[in-house]
Amino acid sequence: MEALIYVSTATELPNQRMIDRILDASHRNNPALDLTGMLLWSDMTFAQMLEGPSNALDILYARLQTDPRHSNLRLLSRWRIDQRLFSEWSMASRRLSPRGPWGLLTDATHDAATTANWLLFLMNELRRLPAVA
Ligand SMILES: Cc1cc2nc3c(=O)[nH]c(=O)nc-3n(C[C@H](O)[C@H](O)[C@H](O)COP(=O)(O)O)c2cc1C
Repeated sequence: MEALIYVSTATELPNQRMIDRILDASHRNNPALDLTGMLLWSDMTFAQMLEGPSNALDILYARLQTDPRHSNLRLLSRWRIDQRLFSEWSMASRRLSPRGPWGLLTDATHDAATTANWLLFLMNELRRLPAVA
């Protein structure tokens, strides 16, 4: 298994309706691909971690790159995993305040590996907290 983490820029400000559509597709498609993960968004930025079989990651990532709701996908990191972080979630999700750590995380001055590690740390912490609507 592998995991990947990327960030992208929304083409228009995401509203709850857009997010619901994305999550509906994720819940519909990810179980068949044996994919799990977490989607974070804030303002115009998405950050998504996906984990599962390598070929399934290739399939979904290729599809994501053609989705007109976002652009400028930047693959920050892809690595081998033995265990999933989000085994119970076809796609966990959280909206984050643009204040706080988010601005630092997506700061262009960080290199990709540093940003990936910060996002992974954040997702791992969020995973432990009860979901809020
Ligand atoms: C930020 C973002 C994250 C997405 N994540 C997923 C995902 O995890 N799984 C998925 O199937 N589609 C995801 N999508 C939607 C896909 O790009 C695509 O629209 C969808 O898979 C098409 O599914 P359908 O053919 O069942 O309608 C995402 C889209 C965006 C913009």
